[in-house]
Amino acid sequence: MRDDSGFVWGAGSSAYQVEGAAAEDGRTPSIWDAFCARAGTIDDASDGSVACDSYHRWEEDLALLTELGLDAYRFSVSWPRVVPGGRGEANQAGLDYYERLVDGLLDRGLRPFLTLYHWDLPQELQEAGGWTARDTAYAFADYAAVVAARLGDRVEAYATLNEPWCSSFLAHEIGEHAPGERSPERAQAAVHHLLLGHGLALARLRETAPGSRQGIVLNFTPAYPLDPSDPEHSEAARRHDVHNHQVFLRPLLQGSYPAEAAAQPGSAASYVREGDMDVISGRLDYLGINYYTRALVAPAPEAPWPHVASVRADGRPHTDMGWEVYPQGLEDLILRVWRESGLPIYVTENGAGLIEPDSLGGAGGLEDGRRWEYLESHIAAMERARSAGADVRGYFAWSLLDNFEWARGYTRRFGIVHVDFATQARTPKLSARRYAEHVASARLLSSASPPPR
Ligand code: FCB
Repeated sequence: MRDDSGFVWGAGSSAYQVEGAAAEDGRTPSIWDAFCARAGTIDDASDGSVACDSYHRWEEDLALLTELGLDAYRFSVSWPRVVPGGRGEANQAGLDYYERLVDGLLDRGLRPFLTLYHWDLPQELQEAGGWTARDTAYAFADYAAVVAARLGDRVEAYATLNEPWCSSFLAHEIGEHAPGERSPERAQAAVHHLLLGHGLALARLRETAPGSRQGIVLNFTPAYPLDPSDPEHSEAARRHDVHNHQVFLRPLLQGSYPAEAAAQPGSAASYVREGDMDVISGRLDYLGINYYTRALVAPAPEAPWPHVASVRADGRPHTDMGWEVYPQGLEDLILRVWRESGLPIYVTENGAGLIEPDSLGGAGGLEDGRRWEYLESHIAAMERARSAGADVRGYFAWSLLDNFEWARGYTRRFGIVHVDFATQARTPKLSARRYAEHVASARLLSSASPPPR
């Protein structure tokens, strides 16, 4: 019997960011292949066609997890590898790869956390409207069932979507992610169809893998008022939360869109058909939280709804992504989401993106003290939330490996393990060693004290 108890310490990755092998064994292009091929989309004009070559080197990656003494690996499945073109016949060679990976994890005593959609929509579905089209939600549910039929309960936890905020707003309104559209209307359509796809897939996962945990992963950038003494600023922070977070949380947890958001013309709520909200609010076993930074906000009455401007937190530490380092935000967020949802929580992503040397020829590439400081302070924040009673079941550092960081290409590294992209050599950094030590001592401490409940 699998032991699903005990706090889970892990690290994460996603298919397009690490696998490479973009045209092998029947995989068809995803929206990210198409987006990267467009001039001006990726900082270094790169793509994920080779990335970390994990499609071939997965055993080396699993060996790293073992060497670091971690419990779990969070990875994602590439939809166009498993169901090329997005619909229809499953590709057995693609499924074989994920079966090798899952069995490889289990053989090593590692716990598989699988994400079905980490942004690599099959390009053929994009050409039929992508997430702005309702049909995509049904295609997604069929794909989810294909994966679960092969892997079943061997996967400890399935997540339907990773960060639907990014797949809707960042991808369709801000245009920074594939498919790179700049249409607030299409972003709203995507919100609803992503949520619908989640709900439909959830039901299929429950049927097909009843022994696994089923959930979703959301990203949060909690808003804090620039001037906490000014009620207008607090009100702006509240609107920011409705627009970015409640728009996902409420449908999932309560089966309705927030009234204020729904009142906006062309909002996600305008795409709702009978029965959708019941599907979307199907029971979850857990919620995954991705946290990197907060937003410092002020009112911006002239800007479109939610009439909010984000302001840089001058004088505070930032990572090389330009994101403020604000560990307190993670404690506040966990407590809030836990109280609001009553669900077990996993911190499914947290990490620091830095500009680091490409090769280890020179000095400094492995001494990522800044990253460990980031991780350690956020782990401490999570532990404070746990001490205050929050039911947090696991923590996944982002990322196991340096990888293809979307629009930033290979210019920012998040790995606790360095990848030399010229040779594909993997070398654990200081942060990996420190994280491994932390995990080992946390495990010792928890085995020495009685379980909390
Ligand atoms: C998250 C993504 C993940 C990674 C980190 C830095 O939004 O889920 O793939 O790129 O940001």
